[in-house]
Amino acid sequence: MVIIGSSNARVGLKAGMDLLRAGQSAVDAVEAAILLVESNPDDHSVGFGGLPNMLGEVELDASIMDGDTLAAGAVGGVRGFEHPISIARRVMTDLPHSLLVGPGAERFARECGFAEVNLLTDEARRIYETGIRGDSSEESRYASKILKVMVGRLALDPNRASGKDTGTVNVAALDRNGHLAMGVSTSGFAWKYPGRVGDSAVIGAGNYCDDRYGAAACTGRGEMAIRAATAHSVVMHMRAGLSPEEAGARAMEELDHLVDPFWSAMNCVVLAPDGRHAAFSTVPDTSYVFMTDTSEDVRQAPRRLVPVKGSRNPA
Ligand code: GLY
Repeated sequence: MVIIGSSNARVGLKAGMDLLRAGQSAVDAVEAAILLVESNPDDHSVGFGGLPNMLGEVELDASIMDGDTLAAGAVGGVRGFEHPISIARRVMTDLPHSLLVGPGAERFARECGFAEVNLLTDEARRIYETGIRGDSSEESRYASKILKVMVGRLALDPNRASGKDTGTVNVAALDRNGHLAMGVSTSGFAWKYPGRVGDSAVIGAGNYCDDRYGAAACTGRGEMAIRAATAHSVVMHMRAGLSPEEAGARAMEELDHLVDPFWSAMNCVVLAPDGRHAAFSTVPDTSYVFMTDTSEDVRQAPRRLVPVKGSRNPA
């Protein structure tokens, strides 16, 4: 049994492994781990404390996929609920659908009895306001490029347009019955256009899981993962016989063909049906976390650097 995740999943992996050890399913373990990340107010890329859209409203995306049945549930643009991963799971189990967005997803969450909360913390509001004012960081310069596209549409002052990139959490688990599950949750691109839904809610883009071949999920610029169907590509490369290391690297290399004036970091984590795992990033010095049923603690490992920058993009 093994559970892996993006580095910000550290707060949840032990809880997930406890469930795996108790004989619960990979889907249970993934949800339990992500719940703790979504409740972590210090993580400004996921759930409670997540950074808001350009109007200052927190909108969350999440998905979960069961590798045994290939059932999947996802929600996009959800406001006012701390645990989109649980709403996504209920979409998967209770509805004849795979994806609900916005007011429909919120109505369903209410029907399920999920509590409504204010997701915008004082700290997230402070970061949001600082970003709108702008600073000289590379991140801010990058995001101001994106926000300038929106200026006029939302009557923003271009001189105040600034921002920063996404975080997002990925968690994958392999349970004692050999079943895989993958979950993803995010507050998405900070300062995003209202209603923007990223790869985290799109099965095949930010999340894919199939017991026969493996599981993969992404963090980083969701628009790139949507355009390249990155998570699905990783799993299909494993289906074709590549190892997790080869499959992840191949899918990341494929991003190089994307023309994207808003190019930024992309990352993925990969878990094979036999428990092998790997993770990748287009930028250096990043890591992921994992835990096995024989380990006491969460361990950290470096992601493999796949330094694609988009060779077809203007310099
Ligand atoms: N990868 C998360 C997002 O783009 O929203």
